[in-house]
Amino acid sequence: MKTFFIETWGCQMNELDTQRLSGNLKLRGYKRVDEEANADLILLNTCSVRDKAEQKVFSHLGRLRELKRERDVTIGVCGCVAQQEGKRILERAPWVDFVMGPGNVGHLDAVLEEGRRLAIDFPEDRNYDYLALDRTSPTKAWITIIEGCNKNCTFCIVPTTRGREVSRPFDDVVAEARAAVESGRVEIELLGQTVNAYRCPVTGNDFGALLGAVAEIEGVVRLRFTTSHPAEVSDSMISAMRDHANISRYLHLPVQSGSSRVLRRMKRLYTREKYLETMARIRKEIPDIHFSTDIIVGFPGETEEDFQETLSLIEEVGYGSLFAFKYSPRPGTPALRIGAAVDESIADDRLQRLFALHERIKRERLESYRGRVVPVMVEGPSKHDPAMLSGRTDDYWVVNFHGDPSTPLGSILGVRIDSAQHHTLRGEAVA
Ligand code: SAH
Ligand code: F3S
Repeated sequence: MKTFFIETWGCQMNELDTQRLSGNLKLRGYKRVDEEANADLILLNTCSVRDKAEQKVFSHLGRLRELKRERDVTIGVCGCVAQQEGKRILERAPWVDFVMGPGNVGHLDAVLEEGRRLAIDFPEDRNYDYLALDRTSPTKAWITIIEGCNKNCTFCIVPTTRGREVSRPFDDVVAEARAAVESGRVEIELLGQTVNAYRCPVTGNDFGALLGAVAEIEGVVRLRFTTSHPAEVSDSMISAMRDHANISRYLHLPVQSGSSRVLRRMKRLYTREKYLETMARIRKEIPDIHFSTDIIVGFPGETEEDFQETLSLIEEVGYGSLFAFKYSPRPGTPALRIGAAVDESIADDRLQRLFALHERIKRERLESYRGRVVPVMVEGPSKHDPAMLSGRTDDYWVVNFHGDPSTPLGSILGVRIDSAQHHTLRGEAVA
């Protein structure tokens, strides 16, 4: 039996692509192994959103060259670095057998069979076979609803590496969600680079309609989605979240900066005021929602004053969760023409100040749960203490708690919160 190994970097879309590649190979009779050294086929599913992604991949390929000298092994580079670097990979590392971009994940068969070396187009038919997905979690299913991105944020490589937006038909998505539930998955997460830009190519149904339809499938205990774009937040999306108790009261809504001047240069399509207005609209309908965001510090031309506006916005929104990154210049992106990144030491300092502010906000928020009894969906034993259970609140905080170890996964229990840890809550199940 032939064996394969896949190394995955990057976002959930990439992890899902790995599940698709793996499912496809298993159908062809391959067996998945955990060590490169035992594999006949090695796939690197790469990410290029930040940092020196290309260099990391080339150094990894350098090591694989040795392996290739010793025995017969097929090496494929997939993901966003594959798309970005294309032919250059084959030139610099001729021992690579094929380079395949995210548009061709559904066509791995053809690439292998036809011996294609370069597959970096975006075929009309993405060949999305959800029955062949190799889902790794017994309780949770990721479902892609839209691929690619039509926004052109000036810092971002994703539109280049993942192509133009393509939404999957509404009925396909609903059928996949049903199949996932039938296979025991109680938690569904809908995925897309701009997930809320979804529009069914057949019926024109929008994201809010899709959210509602998936939430109403019998057996969906929790429903989430990522990543939303602030300019695509619609009333139908907000009302679907408000009206379905099984949709997490959690929303990741990347703002990137609190300064309208910077947002314009980033081409984010909203101002600070417009973003805050959107947040207020959502909060009005879902008062205790947990907001999360992404921030870039040190974007070309970002002044201390711009940065102060980012800090004040974080304070004003009171994000429960926040992911912040130093700006990283990406090949071919328009931001390169705007100017150089902010000096490294200044950007580092801003990042530290931002994290310090957020620590305080997060702490206050976590502390506010102390003494409350909240519904928690059981996900399994706690990572740090297997004698405890772990799960999430409906606003997506992790809770580790004492409870009956025989509780079926996916059950919802009332848990009394006794303390707040660094990122998580602790408590005890109550009758
Ligand atoms: N819509 C996508 C965005 C992908 S990039 C999604 O699904 O999340 C994820 C985050 O990485 C962005 O929100 C942004 O904060 C950050 N990012 C993207 N390009 C970057 C760059 N060139 N430098 C630093 N951070 C970047
Ligand atoms: Fe990137 Fe902006 Fe799209 S961050 S993925 S271009 S919405």
